[in-house]
Amino acid sequence: FYPKTLDGQHWVITAGPTVEAIDPVRYLANRSSGKMGYAIAEAAARAGAKVTLISGPVCLATPFGVNRVSVESAQSMLDGVKDAVSGESVFVSCAAVADYKPKEVASEKMKKSGDDGLVMELTQNPDILKWAAQESGAFCVGFAAETQNVSEYAKAKMERKGITMICANDVSRCDIGFSCDDNELQVFYRDNNDVKQQAIGPASKSLVAEELIQLIDKVRQS
Ligand code: C5P
Repeated sequence: FYPKTLDGQHWVITAGPTVEAIDPVRYLANRSSGKMGYAIAEAAARAGAKVTLISGPVCLATPFGVNRVSVESAQSMLDGVKDAVSGESVFVSCAAVADYKPKEVASEKMKKSGDDGLVMELTQNPDILKWAAQESGAFCVGFAAETQNVSEYAKAKMERKGITMICANDVSRCDIGFSCDDNELQVFYRDNNDVKQQAIGPASKSLVAEELIQLIDKVRQS
């Protein structure tokens, strides 16, 4: 039995990596299993929310009751978010979006050209979370994967992106974070002129997700 605390709400969640094509067989990507985002989608659906999960390529089954939209590039993830999100939504940006993509995508497989190495020009991808925070009116929650100064960087990121809430995790630790089944989050959120902090976990990603969705809902309603 799960209390339907999110009944009537629409949650849009991004998860997994984005992959940015170099040529038909190669891409640039981020290290992300998608497990945390999928756990949040599952917990939100179980709590009664209508859930749209915009997912990069991952090896995970779609959680029961969740509407999954499969995407590859950051641009296609942004398009999916734009289609799904509204001013009434909760938007949780859990995806590891590639910051850069190749400026040009080769239409045929690139060939090695001797021993000279390769210089590739990259161009910046759109910032999906920043777009959602500035343009959509949704209640936006970000993630910050850091390897040092976790709380300082997370708070700065919350300012820069214009969001109310950010979940930071230390991906330099090998027992939590990337690809693991467990996680520990430091959640920072604005409360009037203050920034409050709450730790969740360490625990399985599904338990962390259950606690996190309740905290998001509490902060959103306050
Ligand atoms: O520092 P960074 O820009 O990577 O911030 C991470 C947060 O921003 C995460 O919530 C991530 O999903 C989101 N993000 C995004 N679009 C980008 C880069 C990051 O939505 N292009």
